[in-house]
Amino acid sequence: MAVTHRALGASATEPIHSLAAAFQLIHTASLVHDDVIDHAEQRRGRPSMPRAFGLPAAIVTGDFLFVRAFELAAEYPPSIILRCGESCADLVEGEVLQDTSRFDLTTGREHYFRVIERKTAAIVAAALASVAEIAGARDDVVNACQAYGRSVGVAFQIRDDLLDVFGDPDLLGKPLYSDFREGNPTLVSLEAYRHLDAADRTEFERLFSLRRKQPGDLLRLRTLAESTGAPALVAGEASQWAERAVRALDPLGPSPYRALLERIARGVAERRF
Ligand code: FPP
Ligand code: MG
Repeated sequence: MAVTHRALGASATEPIHSLAAAFQLIHTASLVHDDVIDHAEQRRGRPSMPRAFGLPAAIVTGDFLFVRAFELAAEYPPSIILRCGESCADLVEGEVLQDTSRFDLTTGREHYFRVIERKTAAIVAAALASVAEIAGARDDVVNACQAYGRSVGVAFQIRDDLLDVFGDPDLLGKPLYSDFREGNPTLVSLEAYRHLDAADRTEFERLFSLRRKQPGDLLRLRTLAESTGAPALVAGEASQWAERAVRALDPLGPSPYRALLERIARGVAERRF
């Protein structure tokens, strides 16, 4: 958010400090609740909130963080508070939509993108549009920042879903295969499913639909996905979204901060953690 603010010509970051903290709290709250929903054991290299303190504590802590976020957002004009509220509504919609497709590989790419645009990209888009609004940017620049945030968010989630199967759990600070375990049809599974031959597709579908998967089932799913070339395909798609983000910045004038935004977008699509 601070880099975007600077890229729009702002000379000090103080005006956006509380807003950045508000969006960070909303994001953290959503991850605490997400770890409840996903039965996550670990987050950022440590026991997840529900694992460490139990479900009730995790639920009310998430709620507490949301409340604190809106106290901070209350320092800003109503249009900014509305953007914070909208991003929470999108988070919930994304999570609910994701739940409708659990263990179902037939929901397809369109559904996947609907989910990740809401659960991940919407909050980045809202945060950067808010920054642009506070900086007094023209409408086309506000829209450009929003579009940049949205594409970076999509790239981030595609990469996240790839790393969930093919990443290094020590670098990620969370165990692999959460999406296989929870039955979330991410781009990795959807592309694998699309490209497998009939016999392997039947096996992939059977294993994917198991409510309780053994370690051998998870490894077999990964091997089948790898055999289709899905990892390279998915990595390529994350990069395409990063390039889309870079193109969205066209209405902004050149500056070292804009160049940094470009590096951030490409870095997100190539990250290993
Ligand atoms: C992580 O996805 C989850 C999110 C980005 C959003 C979660 C949103 C909610 C739980 C709804 C929030 C509720 C309110 C009231 C606003 P992931 O599970 O793919 O990523 P992970 O591997 O890091 O867990
Ligand atoms: Mg999760």
